Amino acid sequence: MVAWKEGARPDPKPCRPQDRSRFEITQRDGRARLGRLHTDHGVLETPALLPVVNPNIRTIEPREMWDRYGIGALITNSYIIWKHEDLKEQAQANGVHELLNFPGVIMTDSGTFQSYIYGDVEVGIDEIVSFQRSIGVDIATMLDVFSRPDMTMDEVEHAVRETEKRAAQSVVATADTMLNGPIQGGVFRELRTLSAQLMGPHGFSVHPIGGIVPVMEQQRYKEYAKIMLSTIPYLPPERPVHMFGCGHPMLFPMSIALGADLFDSAAYAIFARDGRLLTPWGTERIDELVDWPMLMPCVATVSPEDVRKMETLAREQLLAKFNLEVTLSELARCKQAVREGKIWQLAEQRSHLHPALREAFLWLSTPPKLGPDISNELLFTEREAAMDTDKDRGMWEDAWDWLVWSQHTPRTGGVMWGGDDTFVRPHIQQARRLLHTRWVAPPQTRSVLVFHGIKGPFRSRLNDRFIWLQHHCPDVQVLMLTPIGLVPISLEDSNPFAHLDAPSWVLNHRPEGPWFERELARLGLGDLPYATVNAQGDGVRLRMETALASLKHKGESEVMNDLEKDMASKADNELNMRQAQDKMIVMLNVDATVAASSTHGMSFLINRQGRVRNVMDAQGDHILSPRLYDGGISLTNAGASLIAKARSSPLPTRMEGCEWRGTAGFGPAAVIVEGDAEPFVRKGRNVFHGFISACDGWLAPGEACLIYNQAGELLGHGISQCTSDEMAGFQKGVAVKTRGGFPSEEEV
Ligand code: GUN
Repeated sequence: MVAWKEGARPDPKPCRPQDRSRFEITQRDGRARLGRLHTDHGVLETPALLPVVNPNIRTIEPREMWDRYGIGALITNSYIIWKHEDLKEQAQANGVHELLNFPGVIMTDSGTFQSYIYGDVEVGIDEIVSFQRSIGVDIATMLDVFSRPDMTMDEVEHAVRETEKRAAQSVVATADTMLNGPIQGGVFRELRTLSAQLMGPHGFSVHPIGGIVPVMEQQRYKEYAKIMLSTIPYLPPERPVHMFGCGHPMLFPMSIALGADLFDSAAYAIFARDGRLLTPWGTERIDELVDWPMLMPCVATVSPEDVRKMETLAREQLLAKFNLEVTLSELARCKQAVREGKIWQLAEQRSHLHPALREAFLWLSTPPKLGPDISNELLFTEREAAMDTDKDRGMWEDAWDWLVWSQHTPRTGGVMWGGDDTFVRPHIQQARRLLHTRWVAPPQTRSVLVFHGIKGPFRSRLNDRFIWLQHHCPDVQVLMLTPIGLVPISLEDSNPFAHLDAPSWVLNHRPEGPWFERELARLGLGDLPYATVNAQGDGVRLRMETALASLKHKGESEVMNDLEKDMASKADNELNMRQAQDKMIVMLNVDATVAASSTHGMSFLINRQGRVRNVMDAQGDHILSPRLYDGGISLTNAGASLIAKARSSPLPTRMEGCEWRGTAGFGPAAVIVEGDAEPFVRKGRNVFHGFISACDGWLAPGEACLIYNQAGELLGHGISQCTSDEMAGFQKGVAVKTRGGFPSEEEV
């Protein structure tokens, strides 16, 4: 193994005093987040694994964890230190960092877990937090009351309420030390939510979800997912969430996708003791191995056989390193997936590796309200079975909304088809939801023509047909059938609908049956006559004409000739106009009448490929630019002020909670900034958390928003980096990436 040298990695720098205990998000993918937690022993990058270090038995030296493995934080047990006189003396004299020889962040637990294992502990509530403070820990833990999955509802409620009763005094006793406020609640949805709601108002820095160790040990991963979903949406979003005792890499992708930021693990050491290896798909025993399940750096030059022959202690240490390396590598994989917007896809892939995980994932990824109604018939055999035992599925609607509402859409990059699961990925559900709640067909629509059988982008393949239809049949609404739903032709190039990377047979979903009819109804077209056209191969025009004839456009065929150049160019322009209008409606949440008036007299700058590069209003001002890579649109300053003028509802005066329902047509959300931020926004600089006084409730990450001062003047526009509830809570990090600012009158 490569030698390691103490001091190979410099010691951390303390954070700025004013940032202490603040958490900021640097990247996100739905509810998954990459963050930075500011402490006196460095800024901890999250998601992070905190290895459990027993001060009496150090299987891997903490210093090695820092220097060799780049571990930024560990967790140890203050109760063990408090109980052992020699450790206690050393810790009180020199601090816990010196005791453990670890320069990074040290979190301590309180003894609650010992009470779960061994019965009561004899330490007092204030005493244990004051002790943690006295030994200089970065993040202490209050003495919570452990709730086991086998407890009755009354017993668990007692644990929840007793934990909360101790919260205020624990916060006072820890003074300025950061404090963990554990959430209990056993396997009761209501009690988990209650615990989150009771603990949130206290001055904690981190919220661990407690009482989950037995749930994980019994591999009740569906319960684990339910615990997460009944807790995290109800916690202050600006505080990191820690999964207490969760260190098995198998659970990382799903946990991170649901908003977990911190993990701790004794598993790497405990499993090593009896020859077990952690992997992302479960646990393996070294006794049976010829080759390593994953070739990690620490075993690159030795075989399992060599390791079996080693002395007990050396073998245990090497296997602990193997386990730690696997765990860290899965964590790195998850972080990269968040950066790429693929954490849900990773959780989906990993769910196939273990039946209990698969069951959890199926439960998790089935939208509660609509149930089997949401998708095509193929999808529901497996999912229905997973739902069978869950009669209260409808109760999870808010949690599902919380998950979907945070998804960024449209996104960059192809959508990898992964079987039926693809359809229920939250970002795909969000794209569908925006389409179904915001889009409206033009009033003149009399019938519907659906093209199917080919991949997007559709206009480049069928442009002549669409132009011809626009000219001859402007009252026919053209739709494209994609495996993830029906989309109007005006959104034909938008992600995810146009960007599905799937085998060709997936595209051959037949445009008929109950799902197809429901899809038409979701677009408000359920009562109109429709016809379908297979767009594969030759003869599309003939099939299209036959379909139109069935829609009673009969007899018109004599006059439906090929188009003259100027007619074609006029129809092409009308298609561009519809596209700009519909994208304003769906992607900027603009009302259909506002979109129609803004696009009246519009003109286009066309690129060499014949696609629209810039959209100009009637005065010739550049208002929008379509984005080729995701089918989205970008606002310019002129576009932002045009849309701002159309706002009829009053600007928000306080932080509104999530209100995405019923806000279709209300326009891009408004963000009101404080006076200090105004000059920066006017210069086009980003808006930071801590400088915002109000925002609309429907603000969502990745969506355009308009930035105002408190007097209601438009200062700029940008892309929101968070939801409205996060806007209210965070004190650090970028809230809006500003795309354009309006200089003040003096500056102009
Ligand atoms: N370690 C694992 N689970 C728990 C818990 O519920 N509370 C505390 N304090 N520590 C834990």
